[in-house]
Amino acid sequence: MSGPSTYQPQHPALKWLEARLPIIGLVHSSFIVFPNPRNLNYFWTFGGILAFMLVAQIATGVVLAMHYTAHVTLAFNSVEGIMRDVNSGWMLRYLHANGASMFFIAVYIHIFRGLYYGSYKSPREVLWILGMIIFLLMMATGFMGYVLPWGQMSFWGATVITNLFGAIPLVGGSIVTWLWGGFSVDNPTLNRFFALHYLLPFMIAGVVVLHIWALHIPGSNNPTGVSVKDKQDTLPFHPYFTVKDLLGIVVFLIVYSYFVFYMPNYMGHADNYIEANPLVTPAHIVPEWYFLPFYAILRSIPDKLAGVIAMFGAIAVLFVVPWLDTSKVRSANFRPLYRQFFWIWAVVAVGLGYIGAMPPEGGYLIAGRILTVYYFAHFLIILPLLGLFEKPKPLPASITESVLGHGGAAVTAGAPSAPQTK
Ligand code: HEM
Repeated sequence: MSGPSTYQPQHPALKWLEARLPIIGLVHSSFIVFPNPRNLNYFWTFGGILAFMLVAQIATGVVLAMHYTAHVTLAFNSVEGIMRDVNSGWMLRYLHANGASMFFIAVYIHIFRGLYYGSYKSPREVLWILGMIIFLLMMATGFMGYVLPWGQMSFWGATVITNLFGAIPLVGGSIVTWLWGGFSVDNPTLNRFFALHYLLPFMIAGVVVLHIWALHIPGSNNPTGVSVKDKQDTLPFHPYFTVKDLLGIVVFLIVYSYFVFYMPNYMGHADNYIEANPLVTPAHIVPEWYFLPFYAILRSIPDKLAGVIAMFGAIAVLFVVPWLDTSKVRSANFRPLYRQFFWIWAVVAVGLGYIGAMPPEGGYLIAGRILTVYYFAHFLIILPLLGLFEKPKPLPASITESVLGHGGAAVTAGAPSAPQTK
């Protein structure tokens, strides 16, 4: 898509470097002149926002790790020490804890955008699967990070979730012992969770590189879902999309700062300010908000093994969504039925999140079961059938036509990548 690099170094030192390691040329062709569809809306800024947040989480996390002690007798107090005694430690911790939530808000918007505009469809299946791998790694990182302060929810959340593996027939018990490094969630568990919590973000960074590589082969999808046909449909990444992404990041930072400075514990749980106590079980064990839909699916099935399979199945169906969706048309803007079903599914997913936060009893249990069935039906029944029966709206002939209407090309004459006609 971007073609060979057009970067021409002028300075002899840069020429020397470019002949040996063409890294500036790579950045130039990927992030300066790279042709992006001209009609991208603000939903396309979330990839950049996510990249920013990954860096922010690693930066704050590395400094927090300098003051944190991964030992069951010291972890809780070391976090309190960070909050009270380390210079700006309270801010570092709140940035990191709320940063995790903001990261998930951004990734859910990013995924919903992909589902709405059909960005997972050919030729972007590998890009989508790499995204799902990132999502899994993010969930593992978030889960292990929440254990580190060694509060009540840390301990009991870790106990509930690791015990799920016990449902696996024959080997389940051995797997749980192996995960714990002992016979309960204890010091070896905390230690390995800390090691992995430090490692996984760097693995995420590695997969993000592949994700962007896979993106740059076909280039970005766009709100019409119509493929780029010629140069006129695109604009160079810089300055058009660097500036747009920057605005997205700044607005996102304002929301993030609001949480950090005005309601830093809003997305956390009060019980995590009580030190872990294996002898006292909290009344309701709830995971962080971003796991709640999956937690609701787990609890809506009475059998433990079936519940675990359903919970992982809810993520697995997302992996194969490029093959479950049979429609040739990408964007929901031109799929009148899919658009409605997409929004119903979005409400169901949020509804499951609400159910996940409620006790598993009475009406909540029944509602959870209905929503769980709908969640799967959306992917396994509705998506495959819709593609066969839905009549899509007529697509625009090109991206440019969708932006400027017929004969709009002349209006674009001033834009850098547009043909220089009249
Ligand atoms: C650390 C997490 C992630 C980072 C840093 C990241 C980064 C990016 C960037 C920079 C883009 C291009 C800009 C944009 O389209 O927004 C992008 C596109 C994309 N990402 Fe991600 N991503 C992440 C997670 C995910 C996840 C979890 C998925 C879900 C499967 C995903 C699926 C996609 C898809 C399908 C596109 C192409 C969108 C299109 O062209 O319409 N990404 N990503």
